[in-house]
Amino acid sequence: MKHLIDPTDLTKQETDEIIALAQDIIEHREKYRDSLKYHKLATLFYEPSTRTRLSFTAAMMELGGNVLGFSDAKSSSVSKGETVADTVRVVENFADVIAMRHPLEGAPYVASQVARIPIINAGDGSHAHPTQTLTDLLTITRELGHIDGITIGFCGDLKFGRTVHSLIKALSRYRDVKVILIAPDELRLPDYIKRDVCDRQGICYREVHTIEEVIGELDVLYMTRVQQERFLDMEEFERVRNSFVLDCEKMQGAKEKMAVLHPLPRVNEIKPEVDSDPRAAYFRQVENGKFVRMALIYSLLKWKDDPEHQMPEHPVYFEDSSIRCRNSKCICNSEGVRRLYRKTETGAIRCIYCDNLAGR
Ligand code: NCD
Repeated sequence: MKHLIDPTDLTKQETDEIIALAQDIIEHREKYRDSLKYHKLATLFYEPSTRTRLSFTAAMMELGGNVLGFSDAKSSSVSKGETVADTVRVVENFADVIAMRHPLEGAPYVASQVARIPIINAGDGSHAHPTQTLTDLLTITRELGHIDGITIGFCGDLKFGRTVHSLIKALSRYRDVKVILIAPDELRLPDYIKRDVCDRQGICYREVHTIEEVIGELDVLYMTRVQQERFLDMEEFERVRNSFVLDCEKMQGAKEKMAVLHPLPRVNEIKPEVDSDPRAAYFRQVENGKFVRMALIYSLLKWKDDPEHQMPEHPVYFEDSSIRCRNSKCICNSEGVRRLYRKTETGAIRCIYCDNLAGR
């Protein structure tokens, strides 16, 4: 059985298969219309979402299946203090696959440890958002025709933006991808991604402070919203909230074929005047999200009993109750889960659930 908690839970080949299947679904929609008849998807959304939840729902409906779940944790037993693990043990009796969004990092991983059905991470805190990554990979493929060899600029909140973290991880498996990080100092990409993903996988990256200085080099400009809800310090949020705004004047410096992506919702980081530019791909990206989720749900259910499609071996981990994860938003600091860690090549200790540093 396969879960999708982190983009690298899928092999590169499985990822490419899902992107190809999504393209086949786009071309032959009627062929897939009843393919998941009598199957059920449970959407467990403990955090607000519009497009991700609706896109999962629409995807399952287009495959002929049904959807149940909640979009507000207050209306579920969670408000009575039920743990994620227990909720999953209950819901798996009612559904064939679960999509979970949670503000605590590592919550979908905890779910996958106990579940007998596939779990899909629909976003956990600032950590990961692998189905947005599949959406982004499909969008880049459809807009540019290829992923290998692209230069991509990530702009905005690279610290808290989980879509950025997951996409960089996935891109590290393609050939000759160059990454340019455009962010104020306060919102720079976390060190663990720079070290574990970029340095180790040999992704070529550099950090700059303005869109203008690099826009002419880019094949993809990936804009993001400053994630107000994840700031612990509101003064810091006020300082950086208007850091980067894309407008038509800046677009004049871009390549004729550059694609502008944004996971949405946007606040003010892309002026509405850019929407009519043919290079603005963010609303096409939303539609791609539905097709790629159709391909994902279809594949996870097809692979369920296939020994060829199992979860990858995770890095060797150890249990130590005297060590604490330093991330206050990690599930291990809120629910009674086993304290599991891994040692990195440099000797640092990282939490299994959220990848953050841990110590005594
Ligand atoms: C993103 C998310 O939830 O992380 N949105 C999405 O899934 N489409 C980006 C965001 O909230 O800024």
